[in-house]
Amino acid sequence: MRIGILGTGGMAAALGGAWAAAGHDVVIGGRSRERAERTAERIGAVGHGGLEEAARHGEAVLVAVPAAAAPHLVGGLAGSLIGRTVIDCTNPLVPTAEGPVLDTGDTGSVARRLAAAGPGAYVVKAFNLCHVSIWTLRSPTFENVPLAVPFCTDHPTAAATTATLISSIGCTPAPCGGLARAAYLEATAALVIGLWWAGGQPRAAFPSPGEALRP
Ligand SMILES: NC(=O)c1ccc[n+]([C@@H]2O[C@H](COP(=O)([O-])OP(=O)(O)OC[C@H]3O[C@@H](n4cnc5c(N)ncnc54)[C@H](OP(=O)(O)O)[C@@H]3O)[C@@H](O)[C@H]2O)c1
Repeated sequence: MRIGILGTGGMAAALGGAWAAAGHDVVIGGRSRERAERTAERIGAVGHGGLEEAARHGEAVLVAVPAAAAPHLVGGLAGSLIGRTVIDCTNPLVPTAEGPVLDTGDTGSVARRLAAAGPGAYVVKAFNLCHVSIWTLRSPTFENVPLAVPFCTDHPTAAATTATLISSIGCTPAPCGGLARAAYLEATAALVIGLWWAGGQPRAAFPSPGEALRP
């Protein structure tokens, strides 16, 4: 699949590298062409360029920039993103003494802000729950269970594209409904990261359905 990546930092390199290793045609786009070139070379991407070039390349386009910058970026590229799957991995987190809290404005989620900024784009919320280091693993599997990747979108085509991208890196697609539910994925990131930083074990809070639903 042709994948464009907006951003040249940690998530761009980790997910872009995983997809390149899986055989996808990845183009890294940055506001600095030099950084885009360095990241592309490091991960084995087929190309690099500016943000617009990456947007135009991708059947799927990953938004891997700070949450606060993402709506303006997508708005500026809106014409190039029409009909493309736009994957939002951002987390709009503000650190506080009690752990991270969300800053999503009045739309409830960054994902919905992106959908408003780029009305023709097929926005998907995905890949925001795990730390960047997890996405550098090849076929991430924990306790013999492949990592599940929850995602939300309103568009069936984008859901199929995202499921393909998740499966191709050895993970299990976990569709979670429409974009209205993206707020839950963003809130989950805030909660889980807070638990991790407090030394807790979020995984221990979620027994398997067989255990949790026992009569
Ligand atoms: N790190 C994690 O563990 C993790 C996990 C899940 C989700 N996320 C989310 O993924 C996103 C990217 O995180 P990251 O760790 O990859 O961050 P990062 O390493 O700091 O990289 C951020 C990238 O965004 C670019 N950028 C910043 N402002 C921009 C703007 N106004 N327009 C265009 N590009 C801009 C930066 O470009 P320059 O180099 O030019 O500054 C850089 O390439 C964030 O929203 C974060 O919340 C991160």
